[in-house]
Amino acid sequence: MESIRRLIFLALIGISFITIVNAQDQQGFISIDCGMSRNESSYTDESTGLNFSSDADFISSGESGTIKTEDPGSGVKYIKPYKQLRYFPEGTRNCYNLTVMQGTHYLIRAVFLYANYDDLKQKPIFDLHLGPNFWATIDLQDIFGNIERIRLEEGTIEEIIHMPKSNTLDICLVKRGPTTPFISALELRPLRDDTYTTTTGSLKLIARSYFSNHDSFSNPESIIRYPDDVHDRLWDVYFYNEEWTEINTTTPVNTTANAFDLPQAIISKASIPKGAGKSWNNFWFMQNTDDVHLYLHFAEIQALKPSDSREFSILWNENTKISDDYSPLEFMADTVPIRTSTKCDVTCSLDLTRTKSSTLPPSCNAIEVFGVLQLLQSETDKNDVTALKNIQATYRLQKTSWQGDPCVPIQYMWTGLNCSNMFPSIPPRITSLDFSNFGLNGTISSDIQYLNQLQKLDLSNNNLTGKVPEFLAKLKLLTVINLSGNNLSGSIPQSLRNMDKNGLITLLIKGNENLCLDPSCDGNNKKKLLVPILASAASVGIITAVLLVIILLLRKKKPSKASRSSMVANKRSFTYEEVAVITNNFERTLGEGGFGVVYHGNLNGNEQVAVKVLSESSAQGYKQFKAEVDLLLRVHHINLVTLVGYCDEGQHLVLIYEYMSNGNLKQHLSEECASSPLSWENRLRIAAETAQGLEYLHIGCKPPMIHRDIKSMNILLDNHFQAKLGDFGLSRSFPVGSETHVSTNVAGSPGYLDPEYYRTNWLTEKSDVFSFGVVLLEIITSQPVIDQTREKSHIREWVGFKLTNGDIKNIVDPSLNEDYDTSSLWKALELAMSCVSPSSSGRPNMSQVANELQECLLSENSRKGGRHDVDSKSSFEPSISFGPEHIPDAR
Ligand SMILES: *[C@@H]1O[C@H](CO)[C@@H](O)[C@H](O)[C@H]1NC(C)=O
Ligand SMILES: *[C@@H]1O[C@H](CO)[C@@H](O)[C@H](O)[C@H]1NC(C)=O
Ligand SMILES: *[C@@H]1O[C@H](CO)[C@@H](O)[C@H](O)[C@H]1NC(C)=O
Ligand SMILES: *[C@@H]1O[C@H](CO)[C@@H](O)[C@H](O)[C@H]1NC(C)=O
Ligand SMILES: *[C@@H]1O[C@H](CO)[C@@H](O)[C@H](O)[C@H]1NC(C)=O
Ligand SMILES: *[C@@H]1O[C@H](CO)[C@@H](O)[C@H](O)[C@H]1NC(C)=O
Ligand SMILES: *[C@@H]1O[C@H](CO)[C@@H](O)[C@H](O)[C@H]1NC(C)=O
Ligand SMILES: *[C@@H]1O[C@H](CO)[C@@H](O)[C@H](O)[C@H]1NC(C)=O
Ligand SMILES: *[C@@H]1O[C@H](CO)[C@@H](O)[C@H](O)[C@H]1NC(C)=O
Repeated sequence: MESIRRLIFLALIGISFITIVNAQDQQGFISIDCGMSRNESSYTDESTGLNFSSDADFISSGESGTIKTEDPGSGVKYIKPYKQLRYFPEGTRNCYNLTVMQGTHYLIRAVFLYANYDDLKQKPIFDLHLGPNFWATIDLQDIFGNIERIRLEEGTIEEIIHMPKSNTLDICLVKRGPTTPFISALELRPLRDDTYTTTTGSLKLIARSYFSNHDSFSNPESIIRYPDDVHDRLWDVYFYNEEWTEINTTTPVNTTANAFDLPQAIISKASIPKGAGKSWNNFWFMQNTDDVHLYLHFAEIQALKPSDSREFSILWNENTKISDDYSPLEFMADTVPIRTSTKCDVTCSLDLTRTKSSTLPPSCNAIEVFGVLQLLQSETDKNDVTALKNIQATYRLQKTSWQGDPCVPIQYMWTGLNCSNMFPSIPPRITSLDFSNFGLNGTISSDIQYLNQLQKLDLSNNNLTGKVPEFLAKLKLLTVINLSGNNLSGSIPQSLRNMDKNGLITLLIKGNENLCLDPSCDGNNKKKLLVPILASAASVGIITAVLLVIILLLRKKKPSKASRSSMVANKRSFTYEEVAVITNNFERTLGEGGFGVVYHGNLNGNEQVAVKVLSESSAQGYKQFKAEVDLLLRVHHINLVTLVGYCDEGQHLVLIYEYMSNGNLKQHLSEECASSPLSWENRLRIAAETAQGLEYLHIGCKPPMIHRDIKSMNILLDNHFQAKLGDFGLSRSFPVGSETHVSTNVAGSPGYLDPEYYRTNWLTEKSDVFSFGVVLLEIITSQPVIDQTREKSHIREWVGFKLTNGDIKNIVDPSLNEDYDTSSLWKALELAMSCVSPSSSGRPNMSQVANELQECLLSENSRKGGRHDVDSKSSFEPSISFGPEHIPDAR
């Protein structure tokens, strides 16, 4: 499996030269000198040539400070941008708000140089967040923890390679304990899409070193960065004097074919072990990560005689071979990317061991080590955030907690809000505004209408003037509106009055002297009809309450109007006779499933439905029927097919679903729809939506559910091609508590069935992940799942076979016409292959899958947005540094 992963990875690096960041010119760089005054203009730092500017436009809180120590000691130079800093005595979470390019990989570096700026001689400890996700703990008291990174005696540097999912990126400092968070500089560098990639998560830097005996690490000058490194990576020198010898060259090393753009100063030097037979060894402290990505940079920089050869094995933790035997290319930069998830005991080590046939010892020029950090929490829905920020601007609201993401993490939710936040992979929505006593003046902001998931709006006790807006009636989920204690005037819109009268909303308007309930007082009529019902006299209040109760009771008798708050109101049981009417005597067949025939139907003459009639012969019929009804009555998700009703009458078992007019995914991937194939974007979206539905079953339901029959035929498409998962007949609740697994009769569809489950009868949610992986392979290839006439009959083996033969282009469905973002395609392929790992422990969970597909979709969309259009097809040039000699065999 590991080798297949590497293979895809190689393909990714070798084939897709998508965005080539313009060398030398700082294009896209964001260089922020934190704490620099707003009135100073940006400047060019002398020693690096980097342009820095003030942070004042990106943050609304904090104060400026200046470091005390002028002596840099060892490590990074105290360049001008690092001498000033911003510290945050107020608030728990303070955030920078940066504008970035959505869907671009960035190297994000935060510099913290304490140097006793506050004269307290107490090094701070605090957390760093990236948007709503934890990034790192900055612990300047932990000398040991900082050793592995760039050595900085009076501070530390934190770096991550991350792809923002929107155009803004929040970087937050979060207080934890008595010390004050601070920051010296923020540096963002866009990277090529094809170099530092992950299946899931972002890459947190553990070490980045080159090896030289003659660049002393106590000398700040030995740190290599911009302009030598066009991407401004910070390369620290390292040397193990007792064991290593340096070799170097003045002959230029050809780096053009290598995507990593390595500086000559790094690639022209290498370390080799002292002593002919010895291996080359290095190790790192891993900081709680098991998933490690390594980038080993090599070049043969000695002119070899014909009789010489240099070849070595690459070993992890002394004995695990993690890559094929390797020979550096002569005067040519080459990178071996390695991903491993072996657990290390405190430290992870790398050994390069000379092979038997090699005459020369191993050599290594430079290494980068990253831990994979999962950033699973989605940011709050973009439209909600925009609306909220407009409301904030309208009322000039300044609250200490109003920084960073409004909803998540929950403990830092902005005051006055409440949000829905069910799953990390689904963007939270704002469900409540409680701005009581916020000192608001002016009219009610029209931006409130864009918060369309709002359930409660409390604007009481402010100084709001003007009319009660009509749009409040259009917010479908809004049930409580509290406008008491303002200076609102005019009449209340008819629609709101009706809804209040019908008990659909609670409208509170007490204490608005100029407001009237009667439409006649609108306009020139000055005769005020003070809201009589809500007058303050207690007796009137009681009478009103009684009246209201009576009105409500009367309303309840009328069955016609469904309550807005009750989402299950439509679920109904039907008689078989009614079913016959709905289907017009079972006139039109839509399809035939495992348990019966599905008919087209019409409910109330206007709602199309699909009616599944279970066949009487179906032995397990009743159990499955009950399972499906029970399940569907308690789960609701936009990506699960909705049950409209059912019939359970003697031997007649019928399920009535919403009608999915575009059939199922399988049809769209087969010959049937060959004339109008689904675009890559649509395929990704369908996959992402299905993944969300499945994620909901796995972690959103209580108890959680396993679908057990995920296949392309069960992924249905509505008239907008939105994907919904159907057919829950085999679903099972999965174990909670002491029971560790469910042993069941193995069930599922051929080709999609998890081999591990088949072998062991051991059912877990990872079996669904396997089946989903098969669907993903279908989506990418449009191949049948099982085809006996193919080289390999099962789709998973076929793809694996193609990969090992380097026949990568022929994996992808030709009807896509190469109209796709290559990196999103390889990423999806790699994700699919990890989902179909033979062993369930090697498979991701559905949250990771959903998240990953969302990212693929983003990079595909950003391509469609035009960013990559210029060179996406033209520069399709395979890298010679990844010739077939490096492609490992599948194990
Ligand atoms: C810039 O602002 C600071 C206070 O923030 C002030 O001390 C300084 O004199 C100002 N400089 C200029 C050039 O206006
Ligand atoms: C950097 O700043 C200098 C002036 O300080 C300016 O001339 C130059 O164009 C800037 N370069 C970039 C890439 O912004
Ligand atoms: C963050 O930056 C964006 C773009 O510059 C801006 O529209 C938005 O208002 C900013 N948000 C905050 C809270 O400053
Ligand atoms: C190259 O190696 C030689 C001998 O080890 C050393 O004297 C020289 O300084 C090195 N050159 C560089 C640029 O490091
Ligand atoms: C570097 O390698 C590339 C790819 O093999 C080749 O096209 C190019 O000519 C080489 N450059 C030099 C200066 O040798
Ligand atoms: C926010 O909503 C949740 C779920 O509806 C509820 O449990 C919680 O009490 C609410 N919090 C506030 C501050 O209203
Ligand atoms: C709201 O109050 C602020 C200060 O209290 C004032 O500057 C502003 O003009 C007022 N806005 C309106 C619309 O009255
Ligand atoms: C409406 O606001 C008033 C004043 O803040 C408050 O006393 C009352 O409890 C609120 N009612 C509801 C239902 O929130
Ligand atoms: C409304 O504004 C007046 C002054 O304009 C102020 O005295 C009063 O406290 C304000 N009321 C509220 C609830 O903010």
